[in-house]
Amino acid sequence: MTLISPSMLAADFLHLEKDVEMVNQHADMFHLDIMDGTFVPNISYGFPVVEAIASIARKPLDVHLMIVHPEKYIERFARIGVSMLSFHLNATDKPAQALLHIREAGMKAGLVINPDMPVESLYPYLHLCDHIILMSVYAGFGGQKFIEDTYERIRTLKAEIDRLQLNVKIEIDGGVCPENAGKLIEAGAEILVAGSAVFKSDDPATTVSLLRG
Ligand code: DX5
Ligand code: ZN
Repeated sequence: MTLISPSMLAADFLHLEKDVEMVNQHADMFHLDIMDGTFVPNISYGFPVVEAIASIARKPLDVHLMIVHPEKYIERFARIGVSMLSFHLNATDKPAQALLHIREAGMKAGLVINPDMPVESLYPYLHLCDHIILMSVYAGFGGQKFIEDTYERIRTLKAEIDRLQLNVKIEIDGGVCPENAGKLIEAGAEILVAGSAVFKSDDPATTVSLLRG
């Protein structure tokens, strides 16, 4: 079954509880985008917001770090109760160490790459990952247009994961909507992140069910 991870970046921050409840009832996890204004040219939100969501979340927290030195904050996210912690491959010079550290801290570990980074750059680390986030837009902003190359990148990565007989889930992030969800799932995606498509729609719960393909 495809898992849907709504991106809270597109939620209504003045009525955050309502959007958290929608995810609790209709989706599978909370996608939390952490941007530091250095790794990406945007700043999102930090620990106070993550802790507030964690306090009422009944679904796992799926944290996507877009920050430099992600290894510095692993323990802190573990203490908040985060289930899945992912960072960009080019955000640290010791990715293997950081992945191991995330697992030791009791979380599922994930690597993220932008659309211009070859899928093959992930291969040395696949055995240390529980999931991979393939960006289908350039990390930094919600509401961007989906990049069509993504289908081919999923197929390439999926073939390598299967060849190695690993249990690594492929998560797709950026511009995901009901119109492309079916094709993403068919290509091998198991987790779909969607911000604008869910929270800017008239009926987020129905949109979540449409995303399941
Ligand atoms: C972009 C973030 C995404 C973003 C997705 O840097 O990683 O998670 O919130 O938003 P949409 O679904 O609007 O493209
Ligand atoms: Zn994200």
